[in-house]
Amino acid sequence: MVPKDPILRLGFVGTGGVATRHATILSGFDDVALVAATDVDPTRAAAFSEQFGAEAVDDVAALLARELDAVYVCVPPFAHRPAESSAEAQVAAAGLPLFVEKPLAPDLATAEAIGDRVGGVLTRVGHHWRCAEPVAQARALLADRTVRLVSATWWDKVPPVSWWAHRDLSGGPVVEQAIHVLDLARVLVGEVTEVSARAHGTVPGGDVDAVTTALLSFANGAVGTLSAASVLGAKHRAGLEIVADGLVVGVGEDWIEVRDGAAEPVRSEFDRWTACEAADRAFVDGVAGRPVDPVTSPPDYAEALRSHRLATAVARSAASGAPEKLS
Ligand SMILES: NC(=O)c1ccc[n+]([C@@H]2O[C@H](COP(=O)([O-])OP(=O)(O)OC[C@H]3O[C@@H](n4cnc5c(N)ncnc54)[C@H](O)[C@@H]3O)[C@@H](O)[C@H]2O)c1
Repeated sequence: MVPKDPILRLGFVGTGGVATRHATILSGFDDVALVAATDVDPTRAAAFSEQFGAEAVDDVAALLARELDAVYVCVPPFAHRPAESSAEAQVAAAGLPLFVEKPLAPDLATAEAIGDRVGGVLTRVGHHWRCAEPVAQARALLADRTVRLVSATWWDKVPPVSWWAHRDLSGGPVVEQAIHVLDLARVLVGEVTEVSARAHGTVPGGDVDAVTTALLSFANGAVGTLSAASVLGAKHRAGLEIVADGLVVGVGEDWIEVRDGAAEPVRSEFDRWTACEAADRAFVDGVAGRPVDPVTSPPDYAEALRSHRLATAVARSAASGAPEKLS
């Protein structure tokens, strides 16, 4: 008889919206058990634990006493501070793999300091767009082309979480949200070497920018823009339009639109859940020691930090009005 793989014991720090998404997906995997969860709001930890058959515990130390194989960290951006006592630092000090949701922090210094602490363990960050089928198709279409131009867009509403509209808590719309399209621009176009950004207005009841636009210069010579808006009633558009010679590829988390030559554009829609599932599958497989394709996996902490440096550079440039260079 072939021995069955062991069941991996998982814990959660933070039990809000995105933790519930991960736990719903993981509950469908037959090689994991959701063992324990903690949240600064114990009623949330209790409700989450009851829903997913886990044990609610008081804090990260109690979580780490439950003989876990890996931990999901799903807290809001501000809750990664201070870096020394962050959940990531504690999980890494215990030698456990960790999946942490983007953004890594509201600011750059916290994320850099956590990055210094988690280098010794397997890490994955929730940039699950990298796992999406439309992104794989865009990558294949662009493989032999010179990309000239990219327009990255995130036009949306203010998300319904209390911390989002406050710069010190969330990092603002570019760091918290549009980082998904900046991460994808790095994957499909290349590294950005300089940004110059402007913003206009603030969202009602908060101090984050209502809209931001930025000019992006890429190391390979491509040029691009980012535009983010948080003043709408619903998500209008989130994705990239990429121009190569004779080709336009529009791509997002769950869609792709291609115009090749003079042909009419062809649009395909996908189920976004599939990419979310693939991200969790890649993490669990990595923890279990099974082979994982790095191209279609979520990034590790060091790689996500490069996207975080880019997003925080855009935010700094929007605040100061001065260009920001990236090495
Ligand atoms: N990758 C994605 O598609 C995606 C989608 C949604 C959210 N996110 C990210 O996930 C993070 C959380 O977002 P959310 O929508 O789940 O927020 P949320 O407010 O719904 O949940 C966050 C939870 O963390 C808890 N918390 C706060 N500080 C904590 C601490 N120090 N220790 C333990 N628990 C703490 C809160 O009480 C809350 O229950 C954000 O950074 C967000 O950007 C990513």
